[in-house]
Amino acid sequence: MRRKVERDQILGHEDEADGIQEYDNPLPDWWLGLFWLTIIWSFAYLVHYHFIADRSPEAALAQELAEAQERWPAPGEGEGTEAGLTLTAEAVAEGEGVFQTYCVACHGADLMGGIGPNLLDDEWIHGGRPEDVINTITNGVPDKGMVPWGPVIGPEQVNRVAAYVISKNAEALGREPGAVPPPPE
Ligand code: HEC
Repeated sequence: MRRKVERDQILGHEDEADGIQEYDNPLPDWWLGLFWLTIIWSFAYLVHYHFIADRSPEAALAQELAEAQERWPAPGEGEGTEAGLTLTAEAVAEGEGVFQTYCVACHGADLMGGIGPNLLDDEWIHGGRPEDVINTITNGVPDKGMVPWGPVIGPEQVNRVAAYVISKNAEALGREPGAVPPPPE
C-alpha cells in the first residue's frame, strides 16, 4: 500500500526560514504502523481496564474496605445495631451503672462535664457516631487525661456505657441515637 509519491520534492513554502526548506515525503510505514497500533492498543486497554478487569479506583477501594471490615470488625459487631451498639433499655441501664462507677468523677453525674468534656452537647472532639464513642472510651485519650477504658472494663461494659452516653446525648438533643456527624479530620 506504499503511496506512490516522488520522493524528496521540496514543498516550496513561501515562508522558508533561514534557508531551511521542507521535503514532502510520507511518513515511513513502520512509523505510521506504530502510530495506529498505539491508538488501537489504547482502546483495547481502556476496555480491558474498566470493563473486563475492572481495575477502577472505586473497585479497588471497595475491595480494600471489604478486607478491612473483615480484618477489623467494629467492636461488638453482630450484637445490637448496625454500628455494633446495643441500645436496648437494659443495656442503657447497665451502662448507667458503669458510668456512675467510672466516669462521673470527670464527666459529671449529669454528663455535663467537669474535668472531662460535656457529653450532652453536639460538640464531639473525637466524633459522636457510636463507633467513635466506643473507640474513644476503649482507647482513651491518654495525653488529655481520658483513660483507655477498654483494658479496664472490657468490651462489653464499654459497649454498655457507650449506649448510655449516646442515648443520653440523643435525648438531650432530641434526635435518634447515633444520628450524629462523623468526627472532624
Ligand atoms: C480522669 C478523668 C476522666 C474519666 C474518669 C473519664 N473521662 Fe472521658 N474524658 C476525659 C477527658 C479529659 C476527655 C477529653 C479528651 C480530649 O480532650 O481529647 C474525655 C473524653 C471523653 C469522650 C469523648 C468526648 C468527645 O467530645 O469526643 C467520651 C465519649 C468519654 N470521655 C467517655 C467516658 C466514659 C464513658 C468514661 C467512663 C468509663 C470516662 N469518659 C471516664 C476525662 C475522663
